Amino acid sequence: MNISELDRRYVAHTYNRFPLEFESGKGSLVRGTDGRDYIDLGSGIAVNIFGLGDDAWKAAVTKQLDSFQHCSNLYYAAPVANLAQMLCEKTCMERVFFANSGAEANECAIKVARKWAQEHKGAEYCNIITLKQSFHGRTLATLAATGQKMYHQDYQPLPGGFLYAQVGDREGLEALAREHPCAAIMFECVQGEGGVMPIGQEWADTMQAVAEKYDLLLLADEVQLGNGRSGQLYGYMEYGLQPDVVTTAKGLGGGLPIGAAILGKRVADVLQPGSHGSTFGGNPVCCAGGISILSRIDEELLRGVRERSAYIVRELSGAKGIHSVSGMGLMLGLEIEKPAREFAELALRKGVLVTTAKQKIRLLPALNIPMNLLEKAVQILKDCAAE
Ligand SMILES: Cc1ncc(COP(=O)(O)O)c(C=O)c1O
Repeated sequence: MNISELDRRYVAHTYNRFPLEFESGKGSLVRGTDGRDYIDLGSGIAVNIFGLGDDAWKAAVTKQLDSFQHCSNLYYAAPVANLAQMLCEKTCMERVFFANSGAEANECAIKVARKWAQEHKGAEYCNIITLKQSFHGRTLATLAATGQKMYHQDYQPLPGGFLYAQVGDREGLEALAREHPCAAIMFECVQGEGGVMPIGQEWADTMQAVAEKYDLLLLADEVQLGNGRSGQLYGYMEYGLQPDVVTTAKGLGGGLPIGAAILGKRVADVLQPGSHGSTFGGNPVCCAGGISILSRIDEELLRGVRERSAYIVRELSGAKGIHSVSGMGLMLGLEIEKPAREFAELALRKGVLVTTAKQKIRLLPALNIPMNLLEKAVQILKDCAAE
């Protein structure tokens, strides 16, 4: 059997894979086992933010591997403390809980919100308001937090205590906060899996105001948008929000699994010994990689993100076969005439890797994608849309 046959035979069928087997990669170019090079506009779904084979990240990870690869959370390890300090200083927050994925970081945020509410408001204040069309992960609690019925249907009963508000419906949000004892509002600034839709400044202001009025925590899910992709370090900064918990994962690890729940002042001491934990959370190799990533997200890189974003939006808005471009920074969605999967397969045949989100094409290039590759890829996308 060749690799795709072996995979289909032995790997659970949870992914509708494209017909491409990776052989190697450098930066924004992927070499397939078919000998072709592909321009990567997906970055492993917003993970490889400095592309494949990033030298600085490889050096940081290798150096830590040469020292020790893992120690339990019963001991101290420098990369863990150093990455936590960096995350806190860059967000003006207080402490970090390390996990291994976005879903786990969100589980932590949910647990922190419930425990905080129990201690400060009463045990019945357990409900968490999330947004319709949101996506927060695949564990049972984060699935329940996800405001899309299609993800819920095969997995009943899901954990209770989640209420769903519609972006733009202030009255509806207030009614939920007023009529149910709630702990928090959880949100993405750009709903990625929900169709690459930014929530907008007005809705961000509404959530902040409702949270203040009803004494709710704000939990910002920055798993996909965070770590520079928005054009700011985190997307909530674009809207001037003041979240109590920020969750991050994907890009933070640069390709190794990591998740983090960054805790603000109000919740800094909610977690105590024994109240939460993870065997691999804060793995020193992943944290060493994270330090290398985070230390390079500076104003120059962010300016580059905004410039590349403006270029894509300018080139693709109004192009033949493209109805609209949505999103923020280098997390962009193309509403196209063709079915999204058909478009993505066509782009692959022409040498460009893209992902889909609902009926849209989702672009998540590396934050440092060279302009000449981006220009080439954008032209191919135009050709695909027009064909
Ligand atoms: C906004 C958001 N939250 C959470 C998750 C879940 O992250 P993970 O797949 O690392 O568990 C994702 C994954 O796509 C996401 O986009």
